[in-house]
Amino acid sequence: MFIKHATIERNTILLAVLTLLTVAIGGLVEIVPLFTIQTTIERVEGMRPYSPLELTGRNIYIREGCYVCHSQQIRPLRDEVERYGHYSLAAESMYDHPFQWGSKRTGPDLARVGGKYSNEWHVAHMVDPRAVVPQSIMPSYAFLAQKPIDTKDIAEHLKALRVVGVPYSDEMVAQARADMKVQAEADGDTEGLLARYPKAAVGDLDGDPSKLTEMDAVVAYLQMLGRLVEFDRTQPGGLRQ
Ligand code: HEC
Repeated sequence: MFIKHATIERNTILLAVLTLLTVAIGGLVEIVPLFTIQTTIERVEGMRPYSPLELTGRNIYIREGCYVCHSQQIRPLRDEVERYGHYSLAAESMYDHPFQWGSKRTGPDLARVGGKYSNEWHVAHMVDPRAVVPQSIMPSYAFLAQKPIDTKDIAEHLKALRVVGVPYSDEMVAQARADMKVQAEADGDTEGLLARYPKAAVGDLDGDPSKLTEMDAVVAYLQMLGRLVEFDRTQPGGLRQ
């Protein structure tokens, strides 16, 4: 056995070929089983793709680098769960491209900030964080309330996400522009929108009914974060069936 091994060790090419073979077998054993699993994410009830306005808000969140200071990932540790709510599930970011888990918390985790504050609070906070939290070091994003959003290419955006597996239906794509506008209208007919995107925050989100602004989009996004899956807080770690 050892004599044979000596032959291998003295022959570089043979050694290289056999090493490659061994590594290839090891690699296949690890990788091939993964192809037979449809998804490694356990599905949970309530998850849906982002509404067009929420998606726009998410894009602004990424553009402004909010993830540099905020994570969206509640870890299953007692202090985190008591502060932020139920720990994050993999399924809760299954439609995120790219995910926003983040790695730094200069500010609090935002995974479940939806419904924690009113829309007015969010607007006041984004315009001047110090107005509502005097010791805050968060920068002001007042300009978002002035910047109108372009609804032109939202349908294409949904289609692009569909390519990577987000289940946007043809109806969602067809209605994308209308859904985007109606979500931030003061008294819009939101029946269709809410059927397509349950629990979406609707109404005059940024306090300015005259135009659709980036502030509307960011508030729509923040208000839905972590609200899609129903957690029953009376049962530790329990999902409401
Ligand atoms: C320089 C770091 C920094 C950046 C960048 C930043 N934030 Fe913050 N954020 C903070 C800090 C610190 C707090 C806690 C104090 C406060 O409430 O203002 C906070 C608080 C918040 C809260 C309240 C969370 C809670 O549970 O009370 C929200 C919502 C929020 N930020 C949203 C955003 C959004 C949206 C963006 C990007 C447009 C953003 N932040 C960018 C630092 C930051």
